[in-house]
Amino acid sequence: MANSDYQHVLNEIIAEVQPLLSEGKVADYIPALAEVDANQFSIAIYTTDGQTFCAGDCAQRFTIQSVSKVMTLTLALQRYGDELWQRVGKEPSGTAFNSLTQLEFEKGIPRNPFINAGAIVTCDALYSRLSAPMHTMLETFRELSGNKSITIDKKVANSEYEFRHRNAAMGHLMKSFGNFNNEVDDVLWAYFNFCAIELNCVELAKGYSFLANKGVCYLSGKRVLSSLQTKQLNSLLFTSGLYDAAGDFGYRVGMPGKSGVSGTILAVLPGKFTVAVYSPGLNSFGNSVAGIAALELLSKKLDISIF
Ligand code: DON
Repeated sequence: MANSDYQHVLNEIIAEVQPLLSEGKVADYIPALAEVDANQFSIAIYTTDGQTFCAGDCAQRFTIQSVSKVMTLTLALQRYGDELWQRVGKEPSGTAFNSLTQLEFEKGIPRNPFINAGAIVTCDALYSRLSAPMHTMLETFRELSGNKSITIDKKVANSEYEFRHRNAAMGHLMKSFGNFNNEVDDVLWAYFNFCAIELNCVELAKGYSFLANKGVCYLSGKRVLSSLQTKQLNSLLFTSGLYDAAGDFGYRVGMPGKSGVSGTILAVLPGKFTVAVYSPGLNSFGNSVAGIAALELLSKKLDISIF
């Protein structure tokens, strides 16, 4: 693919998604997120040979929310390997990201590491192996994205912690089944801080470049996961990264992806690039309306997919 194609296509996409910016609704169950202007859009591609292409306000930072769950899983896999799968499953849930019902039926083992319950139990595992989880997570993003000044939006983290009841219920339910080792509130504080890490689209695409590069971060040259683990993680993203809308996303976009309620989505084209998009208006599944449309356009216009 010529460089000019990427930039040209991103420029086209930004024009074509404009009518969609008013369609979605910003997340309001986290009060600090409800204050965000819905009318924003940015998209960035980071290629496996280190080139960046972007369109829109690519300097605009946002909290990465559930896209942090991919790094939580990465750090947990580094420390536990396959042992982690005793505590969390690998199947699509078919339920909303914050659903509680399945957790009761399935005896405190969340279906996958991307729904909230699955990410929270993965955080619990990580919490047991790290002396300073927030510091480790922040330093990881700083190193992999090449920006040492990345921070956590404490206003968002505090807002989520204050209204943590549903996530806390998941933690306590898992504890009642013996699948939680630390204090629920301590783990939730770390989880909310991970979700409140602030990046822009370029930093997000760079931070996850290892997913497109068989486990090696292009910028730092660091091996983050083995090639096999990277394939496995991308496969799980394809089946579960967009929760109960993973099928629709897979059908439209043809790439593994992960969404966050701030309106961001990360997608991966192994061997070629990572792409990050941001637009805060969400559909009823909690996924960015313009973000999904943009990735669908990208896939169509460049005739790319993992298939
Ligand atoms: O725990 C929560 O509900 C949020 N911090 C993250 C949820 C999220 O991003 C769902 N993604 N679309």
